[in-house]
Amino acid sequence: MGYDSKRIGIIGMGYVGLALAGVYGQSNYIYCLDINPHILTDIQNGTVKCAEPELEELLKIVHDKKKHIVQLSQTMSAKPREVVERADYIFVTVGTPSLENGEISLGHVWAVAETIGKELQYRTGWKTPYIILKSTVLPGTTRKFVNIIEKYSKKKEGEDFFVVYSPEFLREGRAVFDLKNPNKIVLGGRPYAVKHMQAFFEDFYKNTKDATSGTFFLTNYVNAEMIKYANNCFLASKISFINQIANICAKIPGADVNNIAMAIGLDHRISPQFLRAGLGFGGSCFTKDLEALANYGDKMGVSTDFLWEIDTVNLEQRELPLHIINNVFSDLKGKTIAVLGLTFKPNTDDVRDSPALQIVRLLLSYGATVTVYDPKAPDKALADVVVKYPGKIIRLPSAKYALKGADFAVICTEWEEFSRLEADDFMLLMESPYVFDGRRVLDPEKLIKAGVHYYGVGYGNSNAIPRTETSPFN
Ligand code: UGA
Repeated sequence: MGYDSKRIGIIGMGYVGLALAGVYGQSNYIYCLDINPHILTDIQNGTVKCAEPELEELLKIVHDKKKHIVQLSQTMSAKPREVVERADYIFVTVGTPSLENGEISLGHVWAVAETIGKELQYRTGWKTPYIILKSTVLPGTTRKFVNIIEKYSKKKEGEDFFVVYSPEFLREGRAVFDLKNPNKIVLGGRPYAVKHMQAFFEDFYKNTKDATSGTFFLTNYVNAEMIKYANNCFLASKISFINQIANICAKIPGADVNNIAMAIGLDHRISPQFLRAGLGFGGSCFTKDLEALANYGDKMGVSTDFLWEIDTVNLEQRELPLHIINNVFSDLKGKTIAVLGLTFKPNTDDVRDSPALQIVRLLLSYGATVTVYDPKAPDKALADVVVKYPGKIIRLPSAKYALKGADFAVICTEWEEFSRLEADDFMLLMESPYVFDGRRVLDPEKLIKAGVHYYGVGYGNSNAIPRTETSPFN
């Protein structure tokens, strides 16, 4: 039997919503909804611009397949009816951003629940709709989401519609790959509903090329909600842990944190993933989720010092290059510092909570002139500092341009092209060849031999340390 195309609604066309549209749209009918009319126009015209690898091409295929209707509404409030009326599976992928006090804002989630509820009352037909909430939300939120839908639709969850909470674990920059190859699919809700969704995904993955579903984990709402937070906070804790180890290693001549990370990673209980020392984590998720969970625990009278500390260690890590630069130059006034990389990680144009931006701000506040290069970050990322420090921050079209005439270089993002920089690029282009390799992308041995003053996260301060590429046990 062939695959039976489903009618899938997606509410919230951020990178998660777009990735769902691109991947699920290859074999299903997709109905998109967002409060931003521009993204809908782009989807409708097949002109979505998106830094996610493969995603633009996938969305173009979905757009070009006439039989796969990408049915759009111009605003969230104008025509959501067609989504709720036509889609049998409605995925909710709206953002839950941080408030000033670190708590999360659930405004979009509540607005979607109200919208779905209001439209659901008009839905007819024999198919029972499934609403799959994917936004990151704290325990108890899905239950309230259900209550709001029931209130406005005057229908009952479990009879007239089902709500399943299914957290998303995909990474920015790898959204398509992760969606096609999830390690796990967590489904929270009524036993009948989660089993139905398991069958939905099994069918989809079985019939999709280069895709495997991973392990299914069926549970209730609160556990599924908590799993997402625990997952992200644990990953963040690994990064802060290895960064503290790196800083200790930096004081031990001959030490190299990668050596330690590789060896402890051989212990299956630890695993080598997320033990890359550097300038710490950024992005829209880890800090937000740590603070949201810590606040949540605090409110319940539980000690959350550990969670707060992961965040503190991460913020301190961003100051590392400043300490080194201050040791080299007593005063940054009159000095030019090249910053390579602005995004919070490579293969994305996202600069949210990026360590690089904080480093740029610190350098400018100390009086330095900053030359910047990043292949994908939008210009608006620097808009506030350009206004605050006129003439002191200059964006350049390549790493080499940024290095030209600089007194010190800081590598903030591990864009692949930075690993191809040669000793001569630092020796010949810079005023003085000092580099802080915040992501350990360069070969210190070669650079040091050529006369570059190299500093890297987690290398002991003897400087003459060979880079460890292989396991010390080989
Ligand atoms: C993270 C999680 O990895 C995803 O599973 C989750 O779905 C997502 O948050 C989310 O909640 O939406 P993401 O923020 O896209 O994904 O990026 P990661 O690849 O996890 O990297 C986060 C940050 O940690 C980056 O700044 C990266 O440079 C840093 N990092 C990562 C390290 O410093 N060291 C490492 O070993 C790994």
